[in-house]
Amino acid sequence: MAGVGSSGNGTVPFVRGERTWTVVELLRWIEAHFRQNGLESPRLDAECLLAHALGMERIGLYLQHDKPVVESERAGLRELVRRRVRERVPVAQLTGRKEFWSLDLGVTAEVLVPRPETETLVEVALGFLPDREGEYQVLDVGTGSGAIALALAHERQKARVLATDLSGAALAVARANAERLGLADRIRFEAGSAFEPALGQRFDLVVSNPPYLAQDEAASLAPELAHEPAVALIAGPAGTEILETLVAGVGDVLAPSAGFAVELAPGQDEPVAAWCRAAGLVEVSVTLDLAGRARVVSARAAAERGDE
Ligand SMILES: C[S@@+](CC[C@H](N)C(=O)[O-])C[C@H]1O[C@@H](n2cnc3c(N)ncnc32)[C@H](O)[C@@H]1O
Repeated sequence: MAGVGSSGNGTVPFVRGERTWTVVELLRWIEAHFRQNGLESPRLDAECLLAHALGMERIGLYLQHDKPVVESERAGLRELVRRRVRERVPVAQLTGRKEFWSLDLGVTAEVLVPRPETETLVEVALGFLPDREGEYQVLDVGTGSGAIALALAHERQKARVLATDLSGAALAVARANAERLGLADRIRFEAGSAFEPALGQRFDLVVSNPPYLAQDEAASLAPELAHEPAVALIAGPAGTEILETLVAGVGDVLAPSAGFAVELAPGQDEPVAAWCRAAGLVEVSVTLDLAGRARVVSARAAAERGDE
């Protein structure tokens, strides 16, 4: 197809000209363009942006593969493709959407784009919430888009969730997601650092996916990360600072036998597990993500407070 393979400089030629472009031709062109420019998931990115520009779901691209795409639609698409390649804006920020735990979440530049590995944390967390009579009180520290809080509230009708974040802008995104998904009546949102908004309360489960990158690590990572809030990514010089704060303080908000689960970077599991044991938590365990990397440390409070 004309144009494919000739676009390493970020030029996007499919807007003007007499040529008719069908959905599938555009999809192939954009995928090739993304591949040539070194993007990690060229096909998926191309599908998401094309579907967004055409106002359809991804499956629609295949159902209407031979539909001609008019120039006005191509103009909007061109800008999305340009920003993806030149500025490395994450796809989810370009479309304003990200699927997490099969829930369609709204995302903005104010929140971390929910990651697939965080679904491992949700799975571990659900293991602490078996079916039973009565409500569960759940705390999600650093809720961002609300991904974890929403997944847990969606899966457990009896869960009442307190979702907190340092960032008021992130909480506004999370609240809008809860309302759109019909879960707002079971989730409270409060601003504050670590356990500050939860003090004086006890929970059956405390979860968190806190920032866990070290300051000097961040610069060497994917350029897409520069578009996400630093407060969502970077914990401090070591990377484990907020994890350490959470482990140190969680005893004040856990009910007897309650669950605790945190996401972390591979390599942080050993120190975090050791801190959990030192804090008197029991059943400390490490769960791997789908790529086989240590991703979650979980533990329980002792059955009676003060029991070691
Ligand atoms: C890695 S993001 C996780 C977002 C979301 N829970 C998820 O899994 O997609 C970390 C979140 O913690 C928030 N945060 C950072 N430091 C915090 C602190 N000290 N107390 C509470 N929240 C904090 C950030 O604003 C950000 O929304």
